Amino acid sequence: MNHFINTGEFNRESLERIIDHAIAHKGERNQALAGKSVALVFFDSSLRTRTSFSVGIAQLGGNSMSLEVGKGTWNLEFAEGAVMDSDKPEHVKDAARVLSRYFDAICIRCFPAMRNAEEDFDDPLIECFRRYAEVPIINMESSLYHPCQSMADMMTIKQRFGKTDGLKVALAWAPHIKALPTAVPNSFAVAAHQFGCDLTIVAPPEYTLPEKVMRQLGNVRISHDQNLLKTQDVVYAKSWGSILDYGVPPATKYRDWMITLDKIGKAQFLHCMPLRRNVEIADDVMDSAQNACYDEAENRLHVQKSILLNCFESI
Ligand code: CP
Repeated sequence: MNHFINTGEFNRESLERIIDHAIAHKGERNQALAGKSVALVFFDSSLRTRTSFSVGIAQLGGNSMSLEVGKGTWNLEFAEGAVMDSDKPEHVKDAARVLSRYFDAICIRCFPAMRNAEEDFDDPLIECFRRYAEVPIINMESSLYHPCQSMADMMTIKQRFGKTDGLKVALAWAPHIKALPTAVPNSFAVAAHQFGCDLTIVAPPEYTLPEKVMRQLGNVRISHDQNLLKTQDVVYAKSWGSILDYGVPPATKYRDWMITLDKIGKAQFLHCMPLRRNVEIADDVMDSAQNACYDEAENRLHVQKSILLNCFESI
């Protein structure tokens, strides 16, 4: 089954082929998915992912249907052996098998509960879908990974620089009012490593990434000094929660880690969005010519069409 759950499960050549296809066929409308139906299953909110998948599938002549778990669709249990006497009347085991009878692929968005790091980092919900679905599963952001985002990120960097190898790229932690999941930074770091970037994680000491992700990054450089951002080709900013103080919002002492234009030198600026202006990222960055975020968001549309075609072995 051609699932797309984590770029780490693919070699660079396969990922590069998907991105090159997206660049070559950007904006194309055709009937490559005619007769195919894709379920978009949302346990959590979305602007970009929801719309870019829906529009992309329509541009390829396919059908999509959004399902909001717990709002019009039954709340879903995923624990193995659960005694289902809570507010979740259906198990993913059954839902995945039933949806597989109707749809040709199932895309899932399921954020972590942010209560227990060990549990979240097993990525239990999407793994339950992977185990029981009988059609390809595409990860629209799980507890641990956001591979469609990181493919759009790599596509954007490749378009801006004509290459990814050897570029100085910083994954820059930013402050926030909440403890956010690590899926985006995890997937960005894994993909940047796979695509040969010279990656540095720039974050306060408490803000590492999960051990199972760090193991995929080789000898990645870690810095606690934002001055390093000035020397980079790309600054990829994102807030994420501490692994040790799991679920606890960042301390107010880190508010001055907000990314400002004077901190990033001449670097191209990327962020997956949504973002909180003047908390995570200053207006002067977002309103500057260095902001590549809107191209990055647009590339979600292009690259996801190629990811879908890859799942159906059509490229
Ligand atoms: N970047 C991203 O996944 O955006 P949404 O949460 O709006 O889908």
